[in-house]
Amino acid sequence: MEKKEHMNQNTQLALAKIADNNHEIYALLKQRYSPRIFSDKEVSENDMNRLFEAVRWSASSNNLQPWRFIYAHKGTEGYDNIMKCLDKFNQDWAINAPVLLLAGYKENKDNGDENFHALHDLGLSLGSMTVQAQYMDIALHHMAGVDWKKAHEEFEVPEGYHISTAIALGYYGGNLDNLSDDLQKQEAAKRERKPQSEFVFKDKWETKEPKK
Ligand SMILES: Cc1cc2nc3c(=O)[nH]c(=O)nc-3n(C[C@H](O)[C@H](O)[C@H](O)COP(=O)(O)O)c2cc1C
Repeated sequence: MEKKEHMNQNTQLALAKIADNNHEIYALLKQRYSPRIFSDKEVSENDMNRLFEAVRWSASSNNLQPWRFIYAHKGTEGYDNIMKCLDKFNQDWAINAPVLLLAGYKENKDNGDENFHALHDLGLSLGSMTVQAQYMDIALHHMAGVDWKKAHEEFEVPEGYHISTAIALGYYGGNLDNLSDDLQKQEAAKRERKPQSEFVFKDKWETKEPKK
């Protein structure tokens, strides 16, 4: 009985999160969102391999493939060590995720010059992972709230690499009761976006933000 109630609740949440798009887009993009609760369904090694394969085939500047990841399943020391690097706000809900990741990139090209596009390419690869994950009913929740210095120490990240973000990952689902009242509200809130006119300009730059 309780399981069925959660199923209904999860269906309601998923429906509430569907993008209120102004123009037709791919269904997986409409449906994606960043949850703070996750199903306890196991994320298998094969699932993780499929997600990283999507990363692998992503585009990157000069095909340098600068992305690097550390991941760990709940119940392992690795998971606890990633958890330690998150800020308190994220720790409180990320514990619901069966898998945690640290995402980073190689800072330099092979000739030693800075790879200015490395962070771009990491983000692009995560876009691919996100769509692949959505296709598998897996959700990603990115986190800037991670102490990268602590992560470098904890995982002995070599010189020349930079941990930029953490990610909580798992199958969509889970129980709203695992969140504080405030986060429960956010979990059920509609997703909001700026209109295209604020960020896309045709023919010339049009500043819409107030001048300083
Ligand atoms: C780079 C990045 C960092 C983020 N950092 C956090 C974070 O530290 N904690 C958090 O709860 N959500 C974080 N988010 C999630 C965003 O708040 C979320 O993507 C945004 O509100 C849009 O919601 P949606 O992904 O459900 O469409 C982050 C997202 C990105 C892409």
